[in-house]
Amino acid sequence: MSRILVCGGAGYIGSHMVQLLLKRGFEVTVFDNLSTGHRVAVGEAELVTGDIRDRSALASLFATRPFDAVMHFCASSIVADSVKDPYVYYDNNVVGTLSLLDVVRQADIGRFVFSSSAAVYGMPERELIDEDHPTRPINPYGATKLMVERILKDAADAYGLRSVALRYFNAAGADPGGALGEVHRPETHLIPNILRSALDGSAELQVFGTDYDTVDGSCVRDYIHVCDLALAHLKAMEYLDSHAGAHRFNLGSGNGYSVLQVIEAARQVTGCPLPARVLPRRPGDPPVLVASSQRAQAELGWQPRHSDLDEIIGSAWRWHCRPRF
Ligand code: NAD
Ligand code: UFG
Repeated sequence: MSRILVCGGAGYIGSHMVQLLLKRGFEVTVFDNLSTGHRVAVGEAELVTGDIRDRSALASLFATRPFDAVMHFCASSIVADSVKDPYVYYDNNVVGTLSLLDVVRQADIGRFVFSSSAAVYGMPERELIDEDHPTRPINPYGATKLMVERILKDAADAYGLRSVALRYFNAAGADPGGALGEVHRPETHLIPNILRSALDGSAELQVFGTDYDTVDGSCVRDYIHVCDLALAHLKAMEYLDSHAGAHRFNLGSGNGYSVLQVIEAARQVTGCPLPARVLPRRPGDPPVLVASSQRAQAELGWQPRHSDLDEIIGSAWRWHCRPRF
């Protein structure tokens, strides 16, 4: 039976990945420093606590378990923090990944799936972003993701490492079974912030800017269900069985929704009035980010199945009404 190492598997997206792998019969080891993740989120998987920058901890992990593939979700991922304290981001996201990749090479593991981001593109030059869109990140977080993609390309050429970098747009939603969901402290993401404000009337809902050149002045994003992301990782891992090299795929639904449209949809789902205060723009927010995921659909045979906005908000709402961690 295949054993998969999921680095960052105690976090939001990683824990949904772990759940899917376990359902599909894989043996799963999670390696996580629990800096933003949650012990209970790994469920029945084996959890080894440690930091990817600690090479000796990684070396003993790989020495004792025969992994068939590595999925790498660990990162510091708050864009604004990356602007304020970039060294932390380069250290965790680039130095940390390099440390992990070095041990992966020594253990002779050939398949590596990496969580990249739409943040690699920077300011969009066209409405639908495909993988050939220029990559000019506008913040250190996006720069770290692009650097790792470059490292993966060089590793493919030099060491024959097979990898897929998945450029997610806006991950959202929760496990339909209600066991897992998004819990970040602090939470910066739109949908969980809306739902927290629906649950707790005193948590003010803030809209960062309504003066963009968009349908209603607020920013437009492409929300992709976390379970659709997990399925894409599985397909990416299988893809590497027959494809050498370093590959990159966008993962989005192809549909853009404005902040105000998301709030309106959440009003319908929750039945709460959700009063919102308009604040100035949040620095670093591009006005519109919508994916073309044609390449992932054609090459990986992946289709988003749960990324209808009502389904995303509905699943997240059920989780927020009864979070377990
Ligand atoms: P998360 O913070 O919930 O999960 C990250 C996990 O990695 C946590 O469990 C954390 O404890 C662990 N971790 C962080 N640094 C570590 C280290 N040095 N050693 C060991 N463990 C470490 O984040 P998420 O929202 O689940 O995002 C997962 C990945 O997807 C990240 O790489 C992020 O940059 C990327 N991404 C997320 C989104 C999104 O919308 N959430 C969009 C694009 C890309
Ligand atoms: N927003 C609000 N109020 C809030 C939170 C967010 O108005 O309380 C707005 C933001 O200004 C933005 C939109 O809602 O216009 C979405 O913001 P999020 O913070 O939910 O997501 P981002 O688009 O900033 O970033 C996410 C991930 C990044 C990833 C990016 C790719 O966090 O890792 O998607 O699109 F790079």
